[in-house]
Amino acid sequence: MAAVNVDGTPYRSIWYDIVSDSVQIIDQTLLPHHFEIKSLHSVADMVEAITTMQVRGAPLIGVAAAFGLYLSLRDDPQSKNKAMDSLRATRPTAVNLSWAMAAADKVLAPLRPSAQPEAALRFAMQLADEDVKTCEAIGEQGCEVLEKLWHSKADQTAPLNVLTHCNAGWLATVDWGTALSVLYKAQLKGIPLHVWVDETRPRNQGAFLTTWELQKQGIPNTLIADNTGGHLMQQGLVDVCLVGSDRTTASGDVCNKIGTYLKALAAADNKVPFYVALPISTIDFEIHDGVKEIPIEQRDGSEVLSISGLDESGTRRTVSLAHPEVSAGNYGFDVTPARLVTALITEKGVFTADRESIACLKER
Ligand code: MRU
Repeated sequence: MAAVNVDGTPYRSIWYDIVSDSVQIIDQTLLPHHFEIKSLHSVADMVEAITTMQVRGAPLIGVAAAFGLYLSLRDDPQSKNKAMDSLRATRPTAVNLSWAMAAADKVLAPLRPSAQPEAALRFAMQLADEDVKTCEAIGEQGCEVLEKLWHSKADQTAPLNVLTHCNAGWLATVDWGTALSVLYKAQLKGIPLHVWVDETRPRNQGAFLTTWELQKQGIPNTLIADNTGGHLMQQGLVDVCLVGSDRTTASGDVCNKIGTYLKALAAADNKVPFYVALPISTIDFEIHDGVKEIPIEQRDGSEVLSISGLDESGTRRTVSLAHPEVSAGNYGFDVTPARLVTALITEKGVFTADRESIACLKER
């Protein structure tokens, strides 16, 4: 079962179309105003789709890169290393991308070039299927956490108030999502929910994508400006924070969309539990210090200096926010130290964010 239906049709966020021998994606830069499927025919198309964030979200870009590698090898069976380099270079922070490329290389390296395209396609499709299973399992593991929090709430007539940042949903993975998978499973279990959705400037993944997903799924939600969470927590209006991760270190530091750290600080100050839902593929077992070792993507300042949306006539427009001479810094991610994380929700269970628990996860 897919987590989200779009007008009655269950979709994945990426799939292979055998008839056109192309990869299909939902163009996420057009949501929530237009739902459009885009066909990608070459590795250059895939590099562009990842770079411009038509596909985004850590697990999804890993799978997208695997499909991109297939498109490249189909067109030129000798192109493996060049294609992997260009796909890896698209976005530096999420570890799933290089993880997927390393896993693909392990499968492809022993094969002769003529056998590689078919093997690469098989690998990408398997990776997509595994991602769906993994994300569904994350939802099931996290659902138990929410159930406990729900039962511990004094007022059983009020919904469980969850605050989330960015989009860690179906659109950020192949299906189900990570943090939002937990909500979808909790909804199926009958836990009443209300979600505070951070708008997540500058790209507005919360406003554009998370609210859209939650609306489609019928989960009550309220969009808030990014700086609102601390106030809501002080007022007792947030029962739990639940976010995804783009890279988690072997010590439990969590790198996620810019602004996550400030929510974790506010959560700690207000004794609100702060959970991170992630597939094990998002753990970088090679590094310990997230602040020093995780490369933080810096994107074009124009994303901060402008904002897009629909005007009264329904036309999409981008408008400037600042004086033309203003320059902007655009840091895509930040690191939440392990000490601020209540626990990590993975497909294999719920673990404390520390070296010992994460070392056990490596063995699994
Ligand atoms: O820049 P994006 O939109 O790719 O960032 C996505 C996030 O930060 C998500 O929270 C993260 O990938 C985890 S989602 C499964």
